Amino acid sequence: MNPHILVEGTIIDFDCYIKRFDDYVIIIESGTLITPELAKTINQNQEMYISIYEIDKVNVYTKQYGVDNFGIESKKIRTVQEMLPIALTLNEELKQVQGFEAKIEKVYQTTAALMEAIFHEMNETLPLNALGECTEGLIDCLNIPDISVIPVVLRMMPHEYSTHHHSTNVAMLSIILGKSIGLKKEELSDVAYAGLVHDIGKIRIDRYILLKPTSLEDDEYELIKRHADYGLEILRNNGLENQKVLDGVHYHHEKLDGSGYPKKLRGKRIPKVARIIGMCDVFDALTTRRTYRSDYSSYEAILLIKQEMAEQFDEHYIDAFIRLLGPQ
Ligand SMILES: [Fe+2]
Ligand SMILES: [Fe+2]
Repeated sequence: MNPHILVEGTIIDFDCYIKRFDDYVIIIESGTLITPELAKTINQNQEMYISIYEIDKVNVYTKQYGVDNFGIESKKIRTVQEMLPIALTLNEELKQVQGFEAKIEKVYQTTAALMEAIFHEMNETLPLNALGECTEGLIDCLNIPDISVIPVVLRMMPHEYSTHHHSTNVAMLSIILGKSIGLKKEELSDVAYAGLVHDIGKIRIDRYILLKPTSLEDDEYELIKRHADYGLEILRNNGLENQKVLDGVHYHHEKLDGSGYPKKLRGKRIPKVARIIGMCDVFDALTTRRTYRSDYSSYEAILLIKQEMAEQFDEHYIDAFIRLLGPQ
């Protein structure tokens, strides 16, 4: 957005960022009074950015002070209601699509849009059938013999972090890893479903903390950790009974050496689905750009996991992932 929309003497109720190299750095916090000195300093910046979740607040501000909100890029997020018919007919539609790249693209876009709607609305009543359709579509596209799908999938994943893309990525990576370690279709379905909803508990966490571009305070981190328990609760409340999926979501932050949460489980006491999606979760987090650091390449990320997190993840899964990525 253009810095000139900030009016002297007003207090803003949204955070403003500037881009420094690849990172977004907060320059003015919500609650700040725009003094003449501050206005002068910020006007020297060509561009400022706001979080997509605060566009509504900026629109109210610009209307209130009669300034033009030109330069604000906004994107329409579809509602769950709008996404339902699209997701529920996904597998029918996929039959008409030729070529596996085009199929993956279609499933990816539909699944990510459904997840975006769910996270945006924060409604704890989940469209389980639609999520099931997306899971099925992901498996059908990715569980194909003799074709290496990982380069296509990695190319497709956006490098900017967002929870809905992250959820879709983790589901896809979990299917690919699961397939490479010989999981059967039913087990693939469990890892895919759990991967898709693994962070669903975050709909109960304050967005301010989730989107905080600077590092978290200890108490804020403790709040975020609760998403593992919340996820289990939300899925159970929706009547989901598949214990493997429930365990996968509940324990996706457990680590083999007992350093994880919420129960500090060790080794094989961590259910297999949770171990698979847990590794894909970390891989995706490392390869996407966060506001406080740049992303790693796929190979750098897996090497980092192998070298520095070997105690936390199954060696067998790490090596399978390295083989999937192929010679570099
Ligand atoms: Fe998580
Ligand atoms: Fe995650």
